[in-house]
Amino acid sequence: MTPEDMATLHAACFTTPRPWSAVDIAATLASPFSFVLTQPQGFLIGRVVAGEAELLTLAVDPSARQRGTGGRLVDAFLSEAEARGAESAFLEVSEANLPAQSLYARKGFEARGKRCGYYQTPEGLRLDALVLVRSF
Ligand SMILES: CC(C)(COP(=O)(O)OP(=O)(O)OC[C@H]1O[C@@H](n2cnc3c(N)ncnc32)[C@H](O)[C@@H]1OP(=O)(O)O)[C@@H](O)C(=O)NCCC(=O)NCCS
Repeated sequence: MTPEDMATLHAACFTTPRPWSAVDIAATLASPFSFVLTQPQGFLIGRVVAGEAELLTLAVDPSARQRGTGGRLVDAFLSEAEARGAESAFLEVSEANLPAQSLYARKGFEARGKRCGYYQTPEGLRLDALVLVRSF
C-alpha cells in the first residue's frame, strides 16, 4: 500500500482527527522508529521509542469493518512492538469513538488519562482524548 493509498483510506475513515495526507504518512514512515502494518482493506502505523510503543493511527475501510481486520492489525502491532523491545504501549482515542474504544479494550488497553479538548471536529466542537495504555 503506497502513502497515497493510505491517505485515501485515511480520508474515508477520519474527520476528527483530520485525515493524514500522503506527505504526512511518508514523513512519519521515514523515521526508523516507525512501522506500517497492512491488511487488504486497512492499515496501522505505530512506532517504538525507548521501550514505549505508540499506536499512531489505525484505519479500516468502512466497507470492510466488523470482520476482524482492525483486531488483526492491533494484534500485529502488539507483536511488532514487543519484537522491537516495547514494555508498554499507548494510544489516544476520541471520547466519541466507541467502536475503537471497544476494540482497544478487547486487546487489553486501559484508560490512564484524558487530554481535555484535544480534538476539534470540523464543526469546531472540542472533544477529549482518552489515553489508553497496555503493558506487555
Ligand atoms: C475502529 C476500527 C479500526 C475497527 O475496525 P474493524 O475491522 O471494524 O474491527 P474488528 O472487526 O476487528 O472488531 C474488533 C472489535 O472492535 C469493536 N468494534 C468494531 N466495530 C464496532 C462497532 N461499530 N461498534 C462497537 N464495537 C465495535 C468490537 O469490540 C469488536 O469485537 P467483536 O467483533 O468481537 O464485537 C474501524 O471502525 C475504523 O477504521 N474506524 C475509523 C477509524 C478509527 O476510529 N481508528 C481508530 C482511531 S484511534
